[in-house]
Amino acid sequence: MSSSFCGPGGERFWFWAHRGASACAPENTLAAFRLAEAQGADGIELDVHISRDGVPMVIHDETLERTTNGRGRVADTRLRDLRRLDAGRWFAPEFAGEPLPLLAEVLEWAGERVPLNLELKDRRTGAAVLRLLHHYPQCRVLVSSFDHRLLKDLRAQAPQLPLGFLCESRLWRLALRRAQAAGAHSFHPRQDLVGSSLARAVRGAGLALYTWTLDDAPRAAALMRLGIAGLFTNRPGALRRELEV
Ligand code: G3P
Ligand code: CA
Repeated sequence: MSSSFCGPGGERFWFWAHRGASACAPENTLAAFRLAEAQGADGIELDVHISRDGVPMVIHDETLERTTNGRGRVADTRLRDLRRLDAGRWFAPEFAGEPLPLLAEVLEWAGERVPLNLELKDRRTGAAVLRLLHHYPQCRVLVSSFDHRLLKDLRAQAPQLPLGFLCESRLWRLALRRAQAAGAHSFHPRQDLVGSSLARAVRGAGLALYTWTLDDAPRAAALMRLGIAGLFTNRPGALRRELEV
């Protein structure tokens, strides 16, 4: 796994497509990922859950109802049943039939071309994702989570794997200490938590600062002035044009 793209002090500003180009296509589908690439995103963020039979799947919620025509929990559903679901029609009729992607399919599609940020939503996904990544050494992957214990487990098993720690708590100082203890490369606070003291502390800790979710150009510009290294957006193409980056 390459670690060259997301370390602290990276030379470029990163526009991560949040769940793909999810303002224009159904989130966490290959349609949204292809569109994000076409819109010029630097990388794609996606969410990972695990099926009942242990297969990493790309979906945000732990249940199927919101973004597919299925019912119940991903973790209670076998791969063969997940593959029958429609993950596109809920968004717009022209995306009907869009399947729920396997993480393996997305890694295959991205190859060395498209950096991916895999957000692991469930502690049980760690081992299966690591096993899968061994089959895709060409992929450029940053793994992130809100769970610092999961990141610590990953760090112990994969010393070179780039890791990002997500934070949605006002106790960001504690979260930053946890990110450092887990050997994270980057710190990913929710955008409303970012201010000059947070930006300074993350810089001082030697981590890259990526924030989410930013679709608004004036707010993004303000955070760029504070020195964020990148952002997650649902509309990478439009935001980039508006910011003239
Ligand atoms: O990785 C940033 C962001 O995706 C975390 O929140 O709920 O969109 O997965 P959520
Ligand atoms: Ca996410």
